[in-house]
Amino acid sequence: MTASGYEGKWVLVTGSRRGLGRLMAEHVLRNGGRVAGFARGESTIDHPDYVHFRVDVGDPASVVAGFAELRKVTDSLQIVVNNAAVLTSQYSMIMAPSAARAMLDTNLLGAFLVSREASKLMRRARWGRIISISSMAVSLEPIGDSMYAATKAGLTTMTNVMARELAPLNITCNTLAVSAIATDMLAQLPQEKVAQVVAGLPLPRLAEPDDVFNVLDFLAAERSSYVTAQTIYLGGAN
Ligand SMILES: NC(=O)c1ccc[n+]([C@@H]2O[C@H](COP(=O)([O-])OP(=O)(O)OC[C@H]3O[C@@H](n4cnc5c(N)ncnc54)[C@H](OP(=O)(O)O)[C@@H]3O)[C@@H](O)[C@H]2O)c1
Repeated sequence: MTASGYEGKWVLVTGSRRGLGRLMAEHVLRNGGRVAGFARGESTIDHPDYVHFRVDVGDPASVVAGFAELRKVTDSLQIVVNNAAVLTSQYSMIMAPSAARAMLDTNLLGAFLVSREASKLMRRARWGRIISISSMAVSLEPIGDSMYAATKAGLTTMTNVMARELAPLNITCNTLAVSAIATDMLAQLPQEKVAQVVAGLPLPRLAEPDDVFNVLDFLAAERSSYVTAQTIYLGGAN
């Protein structure tokens, strides 16, 4: 899609405060879209076409309240990017159940709750794009990431089922699996482990923001109406 494909569209990005979510939100804004951002913390984006909502995506009441606020700003929504996620990388035997629960709630249930509410908004116009951010952890199954990888694998399955459910409404659902990109999430991991994993990729380098934008733009495009229930792995990580 040309960058102008976002013009006139509302794009909801979860986890828009930091990292990849912020980068994607700013990319959409640079290209003429309007962005609603969900995150637990305060906004970090100052732009006339950006509205921020403090939402914990893993909390059903918080998501419903966030969408109620969003509906006061717009009654239409074209694109959703399920990006918010948390990661605790730890051997399963010593992983705190609360950390495992947080990944399940944010990474999987959160995407479900947001997609569910978003599709109600998209239903009226019978057009929509739901793009969920996954990880190379699904295919690489790294030690320490049992729950994280499981939430991301679940995200793919959920996306593919929703793709069937929402196809009659002309809403596509796809997954963009990121390899490794410089953010707070990546910085919390042992860097030698990251380097080892990246070295094993068919394209052995970190992802750059534009690598993500390229696939995001493709999945969001009007022309991609026949692309659904697909997962694209950056860097060849599958
Ligand atoms: N970085 C990588 O190398 C990498 C690799 C593969 C996949 N990914 C995926 O890429 C996506 C973005 O990751 P990132 O590296 O940008 O992470 P990050 O730097 O840790 O940022 C996470 C964002 O999500 C928000 N967030 C976390 N929990 C939330 C919740 N319960 N409700 C609402 N917002 C929440 C955070 O804001 P608040 O704390 O204010 O809520 C923050 O804006 C994730 O889906 C991640 O799994 C990243």
